[in-house]
Amino acid sequence: MNKHIGILTAGGDSPGLNAAIRAIGKTALGTGRIDILGFRDGFRGLMENRTMRLDREGLSSILTLGGTILGTSRDKPHRMPVGGELMDMTKVICDNYHRHNLDALVCIGGGGTQKNAYQLAQRGLNILTLPKTIDNDVGMTDLTFGFHTAMEIATQAIDRLHSTAHSHHRIIVVEVMGHNAGWLALGAGLASGADVILIPEIPYDPVKVAQAIRQRQQRGTNFSIVVVAEGALSVEDSKKYVSLKKKKTKAREEKDAKAEKKATEALQDFDLFRSNHTLKLSRQLEEMTGLESRITILGHLQRGGTPTAADRVLATRLGSACVDYIEQGVQGVMIAVRGEGTEAVPLAEVVGKRSTVPLDHSWLKSARNVGTCLGD
Ligand code: F6P
Repeated sequence: MNKHIGILTAGGDSPGLNAAIRAIGKTALGTGRIDILGFRDGFRGLMENRTMRLDREGLSSILTLGGTILGTSRDKPHRMPVGGELMDMTKVICDNYHRHNLDALVCIGGGGTQKNAYQLAQRGLNILTLPKTIDNDVGMTDLTFGFHTAMEIATQAIDRLHSTAHSHHRIIVVEVMGHNAGWLALGAGLASGADVILIPEIPYDPVKVAQAIRQRQQRGTNFSIVVVAEGALSVEDSKKYVSLKKKKTKAREEKDAKAEKKATEALQDFDLFRSNHTLKLSRQLEEMTGLESRITILGHLQRGGTPTAADRVLATRLGSACVDYIEQGVQGVMIAVRGEGTEAVPLAEVVGKRSTVPLDHSWLKSARNVGTCLGD
């Protein structure tokens, strides 16, 4: 063995992580020149030097497993909770990287992980990343693994909600994850034939949503399925949200700590209690349509369980390509999906770029063509 590669998984778990770990491991071991070391629980495990040796036996039978055998956390190297305080543990992390004589570290994660990984690359570590998240919101890649599985789970759930909504002549408002991107809601909504799909990219007007439901009533259909992304906001709330963000930026620029704290807290209310908006919408729709409404929040169900075949293939493609790039001496990059191939995109170009649904996207056009209300 003359090369050593470390792997960690960070951020929210996502179906396909184990498939990616397996692909990196098997490709590396297959060269006969590279061995693999896993770090547990994301950057925290690298900081605490908690490792897992990934030999052939350890990599066997994990392809179909959900979650990550390495464990994960949302801890950031530069703001790690240690003894009740947030500390910059970057140096400890760099020391541990060198302690294991690593030639490269593969960080598998979403947008936050790309940022944290880039900071480590700037400190001289050889870093490569893979894009995973059920939200599909990482910039500079066509796709992230985990998204397909979550879309499938959400679609199956909404399919099941159809029959009960139909039987009881009710509205069912289904909240799906996706953070501030509408990919998951739009994909699952399209696939399940939702009557209304609300996404963060298009602030919605509750009156327009109620109108669409009433039109269905007039045609004799007394039930409706409303798929709402957790990040979707009404026009009114979206204005409040944007203005709070502006206040926060202004307060920060003017170094007004009190005003910044106030705006941050108000924004946290929005971010932490997103489901309040779903609740509010459901009540408004009841009042405006006279139909009963029920809420289903799919939550973490969407991240659990075995990955779909599509996600297994994607994670395997990215994991095995990653080792090829390492062999070529490429580093400081995210291995992005480009059609049927991959591309090594410099992390500097990935950081800070979030992929949201473009307003001219073909999925939106198709939704409108089949008569889906998008709340605008
Ligand atoms: O980023 C993946 C995701 O599932 C988002 O869709 C969601 O907003 C968030 O993670 C939930 O995070 P947690 O599991 O930390 O509650």
